Amino acid sequence: MDVFEAIRERRSIRQYQAKAVPEEKLTQILEAGRWAPSSGNRQPWKFIVIKDEEVKSKLASIAPFGRFIDKAPVGIAVVIDPQGSSHPVEDGAAATQNILLAAHALDLGACWIGSYGSDYEGRAREILGIPHDRRILSLISLGYPTESPEKGRVELSELVSCDRYADK
Ligand SMILES: Cc1cc2nc3c(=O)[nH]c(=O)nc-3n(C[C@H](O)[C@H](O)[C@H](O)COP(=O)(O)O)c2cc1C
Repeated sequence: MDVFEAIRERRSIRQYQAKAVPEEKLTQILEAGRWAPSSGNRQPWKFIVIKDEEVKSKLASIAPFGRFIDKAPVGIAVVIDPQGSSHPVEDGAAATQNILLAAHALDLGACWIGSYGSDYEGRAREILGIPHDRRILSLISLGYPTESPEKGRVELSELVSCDRYADK
């Protein structure tokens, strides 16, 4: 699959088959995260692969818009070191997007879960054993899809201007 097709056809997938994600595919997906750009190439991230049912169900209980994480065969938490780069959030977001695109290119579905309940960070830290000086940038659910949702985007003609900002 070429990069344009992956970008255009990828959708957030929230429903999954009860079928394991092969280790080779998981490694390819994590490699895609590892090769993301980062400010000064500081790579201020760690990836936690989550497979344990109890851990997934605890995470589902604290992510109000990510309850489906416990139905996904695999979760990936992208953890950033806020002191590890001048732009740790952007770095972690780039790694997350690479992971989503790689998952799609490998016929898997994934969803970026980023909307959390109050005290999410503290509770997620506890569940995943993350040190206090690190932040969870994203939680990603991953598995073979059972849905193919459609989503639109604002037209390019409304987004693009030449030489100066324009509200269209
Ligand atoms: C920073 C960020 C946070 C997100 N948080 C959630 C979330 O908590 N739960 C969820 O179901 N989807 C979440 N999404 C997925 C968006 O809802 C989705 O990307 C958007 O609706 C466009 O749909 P598409 O990805 O299928 O094109 C998040 C996406 C981003 C980039």
